[in-house]
Amino acid sequence: MAFEKRDWIFVLIVIAVIAVLAALSYFGPHPKKITPVGMHAAVTPRTTRLECLTCHDPEKGQPPQARLNVRHPQKWRDEKFSCLGCHQLQPQPK
Ligand code: HEC
Ligand code: HEC
Repeated sequence: MAFEKRDWIFVLIVIAVIAVLAALSYFGPHPKKITPVGMHAAVTPRTTRLECLTCHDPEKGQPPQARLNVRHPQKWRDEKFSCLGCHQLQPQPK
């Protein structure tokens, strides 16, 4: 069975799909990393999402400027998923 024109078209389609996915993950929104300073001074790898939400809850969070906006990925509502799973915690700066 020879490698025919049809097979080349298939290869090109696969490459195109991979290129589109790579571009989306490269240019799409990225979760910002957080550093344990300022308002985040008390954040450790064991900080729970409920602790994050005392400040970042979209309705009751304090201070108000910390409230999550409606464009935030809805994954934050998953009670079993840590915020730090996306917002990587950086080590304490020296
Ligand atoms: C004591 C209140 C408080 C707690 C607790 C807190 N944050 Fe924040 N966070 C803030 C404030 C205030 C800002 C700045 C908001 C602004 O000015 O837009 C902020 C900003 C952020 C940002 C945006 C960072 C940036 O560079 O723009 C992220 C992401 C974030 N917090 C994630 C978290 C996560 C994850 C947790 C839990 C591990 C957490 N925060 C806990 C108060 C808090
Ligand atoms: C699925 C990954 C993911 C999870 C889980 C997640 N975030 Fe985010 N977060 C993002 C992304 C991506 C952005 C950037 C959105 C943008 O640039 O439009 C963001 C932005 C933010 C910001 C900046 C302000 C805003 O609303 O855009 C804050 C604050 C924040 N997240 C806090 C949290 C907290 C607190 C939790 C846990 C309750 C959490 N995030 C869970 C991906 C995530």
